[in-house]
Amino acid sequence: MPLEPYQYLSPVWKDGIFNNKVVFCTGGAGSICSAQVRAMVHLGANACIIGRNVEKTETMAADIATARPGAKVLGIGAVDVRKPEALNAAAERCVKELGAIDFVIAGAAGNFLAPMDQISSNAMKSVLDIDVLGSYNTVKATLPHLIISASKHRTDGKNPPTNGTGGRIIFVSATLHYTGTPMQSHVSVAKAGVDAMAMSVAIEQGPRGITSNVIAPGPIADTEGVARLSKKEGRDKTAKAIPSGRYGTVKEIADATIYLFSDSGNYVNGEILVVDGGQWHTSKVG
Ligand code: HXC
Repeated sequence: MPLEPYQYLSPVWKDGIFNNKVVFCTGGAGSICSAQVRAMVHLGANACIIGRNVEKTETMAADIATARPGAKVLGIGAVDVRKPEALNAAAERCVKELGAIDFVIAGAAGNFLAPMDQISSNAMKSVLDIDVLGSYNTVKATLPHLIISASKHRTDGKNPPTNGTGGRIIFVSATLHYTGTPMQSHVSVAKAGVDAMAMSVAIEQGPRGITSNVIAPGPIADTEGVARLSKKEGRDKTAKAIPSGRYGTVKEIADATIYLFSDSGNYVNGEILVVDGGQWHTSKVG
């Protein structure tokens, strides 16, 4: 059953704002990233989603393509973000088949629940490699194309671009590392690294017209993250403790994505947009 637009996007956005643009997304078959890409495709973009599992990635690509008649969505499976050569090849194929890379979502992530004394050195390395090195590899593989895209939209450096956007990166992070989070030392370290990388990229690439931002989702319903990290029975209690009183939806992450990638986000660079219903503020001390 194809998803209805209200399930993945608020009706406030204008159709066609991403016409003739291409979004490249790692982890694109996952619940959060597929919603981000689906919303972009609905609003005019073509897309290339990258994943490790071939069947899951290709099936998701076909499904996302139903968001808009005529949409082209390429699903490239068997790509591990830890392998730079595989990502480089995927980026080249995206440009060859879809013509450009205007937007990048670095969304591939790895996680499990375990206390630090039960995480082997290899397990810690696996998560750091997927999250940090994988995000780095993603940016490295796509940056030359983002620079080309951004150059099409620059004006005189004094005024905002007026003819649409391109040359934009969103890293998908988390809020775990703002406080100490038990059973999540590996991911906390990794996501702190991702946030730091986003800021360096913003400063280094800003002069080329590129923006680099982070979306930090809180607990989002019906996602692999929540399925892996919390037991069903505890979820009502968690929801009540969130200031907004509920889990977030993938649509709310998609809306944040559209904001940052659209003209509305032109002057936002090196920022972390937390989308968590206020949850992390409840863990602040003092
Ligand atoms: C302890 C574990 C473990 C567990 C795996 N390992 N699961 N250690 N507790 N539950 C250890 C293994 O024993 C091994 O160490 C090492 O991790 C690597 O495992 P492999 O299976 O060989 O590696 P790999 O296939 O690369 O898998 C990587 C992974 C896995 C991260 C371990 O979980 C994965 O592929 N995840 C991808 C999908 C995913 O996690 N999605 C959720 C993202 S949600 P040894 O020493 O035995 O060799 C998310 C949200 C974050 O990121 C924010 C939430 C709020």
